[in-house]
Amino acid sequence: TFDIKTLHKQTGYFTYDSGFAATGACKSDITFIDGGKGVLLYRGYPIEQLAESSNFMEVTYLLMNGELPDAQQYNDFNHLISRHTMVHEKIRSFMKGFQYDAHPMAMMMSVIGSFSAFYHDGMNVNNAEDRKMAAIRLIAKMPTVAAAVYKNYVGQPFMYPQNKLGFTDRLLHMMYGVPAEDYVISPVASKALDLLFILHADHEQNASTSTVRLVGSTGANPFACISAGIASLWGPAHGGANEAVLNMLDEIGDVSQIDKYVAKAKDKNDPFRLMGFGHRVYKNFDPRATIIRKACHEVLEDLGIVDPQLELAMRLEEIALKDEYFVSRKLYPNVDFYSGIIYKALGIPVQMFTVMFAIARTVGWTSQWLEQYETPDTRIGRPRQVYGGAKTRDYVPLKNR
Ligand code: ACO
Repeated sequence: TFDIKTLHKQTGYFTYDSGFAATGACKSDITFIDGGKGVLLYRGYPIEQLAESSNFMEVTYLLMNGELPDAQQYNDFNHLISRHTMVHEKIRSFMKGFQYDAHPMAMMMSVIGSFSAFYHDGMNVNNAEDRKMAAIRLIAKMPTVAAAVYKNYVGQPFMYPQNKLGFTDRLLHMMYGVPAEDYVISPVASKALDLLFILHADHEQNASTSTVRLVGSTGANPFACISAGIASLWGPAHGGANEAVLNMLDEIGDVSQIDKYVAKAKDKNDPFRLMGFGHRVYKNFDPRATIIRKACHEVLEDLGIVDPQLELAMRLEEIALKDEYFVSRKLYPNVDFYSGIIYKALGIPVQMFTVMFAIARTVGWTSQWLEQYETPDTRIGRPRQVYGGAKTRDYVPLKNR
């Protein structure tokens, strides 16, 4: 028998697994996915039950600590988060340097990275209390930064966090409130956002979480780790898909054009893909998509919105689900296919969609980063490669080339 950790030393061999489709890079007790059966559990609890009965702050506590809180723990946790929502005033000055049309994810990534220069006591990653404080700060301050990014985008003054409000309401207030005016938070918007945050809170070793773990494995500053996670989330094959779905629906424009775009998606010489379709792990259905599809219809009905883009999306879904190409490859609508439509209904600009995702996923990223430090055999992440370049050759001086 071989020890996997030293296999390469004993045999000279290692595996080639492009995209890490079959490589477990860590041990984790946080989230379980059975892609074949469409199962998603947070700490053992089915996502359907959490979506139905829990709320984002409770789920945050669960993911971070492993158990649901009792009433006292829940209150204390909410209080702790609300005490850390403010950002350093100099961060606001830093943000003023951005152009008004800077992409919100670019701002988010830089501002969270800049936290490593502002919150030094989160720097000692070998101290458990410091690590926990860094995680709390990240979760608490993400909405404040996200709302500031939104205000920069729409050109309105920054709103300070109202700490008597709950997590989701506080975010809505900071985004849509304006100074000297009362802002009434819509319960429909608050409930929908909270649900989206629950569904996006963690998803095992996806690209951005693996990025956070890889950076974290070097002992790097936690704010730098989460900034790297935000960069990874931004791509259209990952969290950026919710933005890409709306852009795609815009491009298709009308139901009469669907066949043309479905044909493009099937053409291997055309880089176009149907955004919001397919998933690396879910090969039957994405359980989050089932929950969100229902919520999407409810939100539009409650807010009285008739959205032609939703009608287009439904028609696209219908056609793609019958098409042999999509059926044989098990390409089903994923969570991002519907989340963008809800965000749009709540009045959130398309460029902010992935920022909303990042607020929720910060909980998963920080929980996994904390777990990494508590797992005894965590080692620096250091994949190998299959080299296909030139064989050894002699240097030729410039004058002879
Ligand atoms: N449209 C058209 N064809 C597709 C699509 C799509 N959206 N997704 C996959 N395919 C095809 C591939 O071309 C490939 O076909 P082939 O076997 O004939 O070569 C086959 O389906 C398998 O696809 P892979 O690329 O191997 O699947 P992979 O697991 O690597 O990629 C991914 C998964 C990135 C999600 C992919 O399906 C995709 O790009 N989807 C669109 C982007 C998207 O919605 N991303 C969000 C993911 S969920 C999230 O991050 C929260």
